[in-house]
Amino acid sequence: MVVLTGAGISAESGVPTFRGPDGLWGRYRPEELATPEAFARNPLRVWEWYAWRRELIARAEPNPAHQTLAEMEAALPGFLLITQNVDGLHQRAGNRRVVELHGNLWRVRCPRERQVWEDHRVPLPELPPRCPTCGAFLRPDVVWFGEPLPPEEWQHAMEAAREAEIFLVIGTSGIVEPAASLPRLARVHGAYLVEFNLEDTPLTPLMDEIWRGPVSETLPRWWARFQRGK
Ligand code: APR
Repeated sequence: MVVLTGAGISAESGVPTFRGPDGLWGRYRPEELATPEAFARNPLRVWEWYAWRRELIARAEPNPAHQTLAEMEAALPGFLLITQNVDGLHQRAGNRRVVELHGNLWRVRCPRERQVWEDHRVPLPELPPRCPTCGAFLRPDVVWFGEPLPPEEWQHAMEAAREAEIFLVIGTSGIVEPAASLPRLARVHGAYLVEFNLEDTPLTPLMDEIWRGPVSETLPRWWARFQRGK
């Protein structure tokens, strides 16, 4: 069983999604905050936004949907979780085998030395944070628009999609590539697809099963049925 999650799985933990009624891209312009050009132009502005998200996420808790995915990993040997999210809530819920396609905002990276390390400090002592060894402005270890996905994670995700028997698509608008291609790849290779979302997405026509509603309610119900062998 392979799962692809998006921002919708963290919505009920109080973490804003990107699109939809009160999404982040309705309030902020992605090209000002989530591109390498934006960071080069104004690292402080970008870091103020990530520092705000880090503080908000530090106060958030995994919800029953996150917890269900941790139960599934423990119960199913072939389980793999692929996420577009950078909030780290899957790891906080107990998932260990997590493929992070877009990085993680609890890691920082020195652009000069390319070193990456965990940094959970909330609040950060200074903005923008500087590399302790070379003094360059650190950046969040996340994938910005126009940047390539981490190659190993992307390869791993594609292999898993090709081999999946069951592929769950949870809380994603299904429009950001290349992540949105994974359900298509799974279907082409014979997987059974299930979508968990509040509304239809461009991926809905691919689905064998559709669960409409808040995923903190629908995923536990689906998992209970799956365990009863329904
Ligand atoms: N339960 C189920 N689905 C939900 C819920 C909920 N409680 N709340 C929101 N959703 C759904 C929305 O209907 C929408 O389809 O979650 C989806 C969130 O979509 P986006 O905000 O576009 O998030 P995502 O698909 O993860 O975005 C992909 O875009 O901005 C980039 O890198 C960023 O990883 C992100 C990528």
